[in-house]
Parts: sequence; structure tokens; C-alpha cells
Amino acid sequence: MALTDSLGRPLRDLRISVTDRCNFRCPYCMPKEVFGREWAFLPRREILSFEEITRLSRLFAGHGVSKIRITGGEPLLRRELPRLIAGLVGIEGVRDMTLTTNGSLLGRMATGLRSAGLTRLTVSLDALEDGVFRAMNDVDFPVERVLEGISAAAQAGFSPIKINMVVKRGVNEQALPEMARYCRAGAHVLRCIEYMDVGHSNGWRLTDVVPASEILAILGSKWPLEALTPVYFGEVASRYRYRDGGGEIGIIASVTQPFCRTCTRARLTADGQLYTCLFATRGHDLRALLRGGASDDDIAALLSALWHRRTDRYSERRSAETVGLRKVEMSRVGG
Ligand code: GTP
Ligand code: 5AD
Ligand code: SF4
Ligand code: SF4
Repeated sequence: MALTDSLGRPLRDLRISVTDRCNFRCPYCMPKEVFGREWAFLPRREILSFEEITRLSRLFAGHGVSKIRITGGEPLLRRELPRLIAGLVGIEGVRDMTLTTNGSLLGRMATGLRSAGLTRLTVSLDALEDGVFRAMNDVDFPVERVLEGISAAAQAGFSPIKINMVVKRGVNEQALPEMARYCRAGAHVLRCIEYMDVGHSNGWRLTDVVPASEILAILGSKWPLEALTPVYFGEVASRYRYRDGGGEIGIIASVTQPFCRTCTRARLTADGQLYTCLFATRGHDLRALLRGGASDDDIAALLSALWHRRTDRYSERRSAETVGLRKVEMSRVGG
């Protein structure tokens, strides 16, 4: 029987963070003042091995997970990542294997990822204008290199590629039309994301959020849009098609239109903590079980019990109080 949580939501997706490190310092995720030289990243021995990740993934698949997304930090920093992917795609029940990257290393890795069996790819890209992009990654990384990475991924056969754009008031909302133009031309799917109060480092304020309604108005005034019906239960993005046949866009409106009611996602950190919500304050230590000699049955039973009693619906309950909680950082839990 399908495993459901206390709100009747099935377990369908597993998001696996393979590293808490990143070569960017996007202020909405890893602000430099916090993630500086003295920041303690996970030491190697605390990070799950590929064998440990694969074992857990197989147990998750046994509970209904059919979609796996690899995240970070920046996942392409993890050595030999294609080897992990090749192992995960072989798991019975896993039908969708995807990854979210900042694109900085894609140029040389796209082909290897494709050959390993990655089925889909999402690249984060917040602006096309070089100065704005460099300010948004805060390490002076040129936009050209990410654009080359996206081209390499298209060449390698990823199609369509999703482009995640976090929209922040006064920072990059002006880039919306050019981002849409770029994606339309390349047959990529633009996904505009409302800036979220993830973690407790980014100094989030409601006034920095550009609401989905405004994003839609900006884009819709240039290219008329039409809402599409969700293709599967628990779809994160609200999707729209361009009436002129120029493809589609997605809007991820976790702040103004929360979608907790259909949330089917579990998240695993690089050190083996299981989070049942992106905004959770604590995880469950699966690594201790793995390394403490627990059997597959023991672990499967724990996963089942944890999901069964899951009550998370953070975005629906967001308030001045919840915003201030010491929530897990995005770079750790993987977005
Ligand atoms: P597809 O499988 O391609 O539909 O991707 P996805 O919708 O899972 O997209 P992706 O992983 O690229 O996430 C896009 C944005 O949505 C990121 O900023 C995520 O942090 C955010 N997001 C994904 N899942 C959740 C969720 O469960 N809750 C909230 N609040 N945000 C989420
Ligand atoms: N709000 C919204 N999206 C965010 N991301 C990172 N931090 C935030 C935030 N505070 C996005 C990244 C990436 C995805 C995994 O999450 O840009 O595309
Ligand atoms: Fe790195 Fe992605 Fe976070 Fe930016 S949003 S700092 S690229 S993990
Ligand atoms: Fe799921 Fe938590 Fe996001 Fe709601 S806030 S959709 S429960 S991850």
C-alpha cells in the first residue's frame, strides 16, 4: 500500500544533496558574510559515500519514490558524480533522474552526465546582463560561462532544459523580459521563483519578494499567456504557455501561493540527515543508522514511520514568527 503522511500526501520525490559546498555566494542563499573563510563545511568523513546514498535511495524507492533530484550546494563539485547517477538510475522504480546546478562546470560535464543516465537538467540563472549576474553570484563569475554550459547541455541532448530564476525586488526583476526572450529562443523552460525565507542567513524580507502575479503581468504584457493544467500531483510550478506557441514558463510561488497540500518531497543532506520540509529546523539522522549496522528492514521501517507522522506545511503557515526560526540552510538541504 502506498505510504502517505498525516495529511494524505504520498512520498514520491527524493532530493539528494551531495555536497554543502558551492563556488558561488548568491546572497539569497549563501551570503558571504555568513559563508566566509571561517564557515565550517562538512568534513569528508561525515559525508555519505555513493554506496550509502544508493542504499538509502533503494529503500526510498521501495516506499514509492520514483523521482530523484541531485542538489547541493553545487552538486557538480562532488567528485565522480556521474558514477553516482549511473548507480541511481539502475534502481527499480526510479523513472526520473534529474539535477539542479549553477551551470558553472556544465561545459565540461554535460556529456558525462548525459551518458550516466541523467534524464533532465535544471540550471539556475538569475540574469543575462554580466554585471547583474556577477553581483548575484557574488564571486564575479561571468555569465558567458554559464551560457556556454547551457549550450553544452543542449548539445549533449538535454531537452528542454529548465532555467531557474530567483526574482528579487530591485535586483533582477528588470531582467524578466530578456530572460524570457533567451529561453524562448533556446526552447528552454523559464521558471521564475519567488524569493523565499529559506534558512536563517539571507535576511529575507517580504518586501524583497516579487509576487507571482506581478511576474505574470510583466511577462504576459509582452507575450500573452494561458494557464496550463498540472501534469502530475504535487507539481511545484504553476505552468503557463505562450499563446504564440513560444513554449511555456513556470512560476514557483511558495510565498504568495503555497503548495504544501500536495508536497511529496523528502530531502537528504550530504551528511545523511533526512528533512521532510525545506523549512524544517531539524532533520532525522539516517547516517547513524547506516553506520550503526541497521538492516534494510530497520531503515525502511523508520522511513515509513517518519513519513507517516509527517505534518509539515511551512509555507501555508508562514508568519512573522516562523520566518525567524533557525531553519536549515538551503545550501545544506538542497532547495
Ligand atoms: P521539476 O521536477 O522539473 O518539476 O522541478 P522542481 O519543481 O522540483 O524544481 P527545482 O528543484 O528546480 O526547484 C525549483 C524551486 O522550487 C527551488 O527554488 C526550490 O527550492 C523550490 N522548491 C522545490 N520544492 C519545493 C518545496 O517543496 N517547497 C518549497 N517551498 N519550495 C520548493
Ligand atoms: N529563494 C528562492 N529560491 C532560492 N534558491 C536558492 N535560494 C533561494 C531562495 N532564498 C534557488 C536556487 C536554485 C534552487 C535550487 O533554489 O537559485 O535554482
Ligand atoms: Fe550556490 Fe545555488 Fe546557493 Fe547560489 S543558490 S549559492 S549557486 S547553492
Ligand atoms: Fe513541502 Fe515544506 Fe515546501 Fe510546504 S514548505 S511545499 S511542506 S517543503
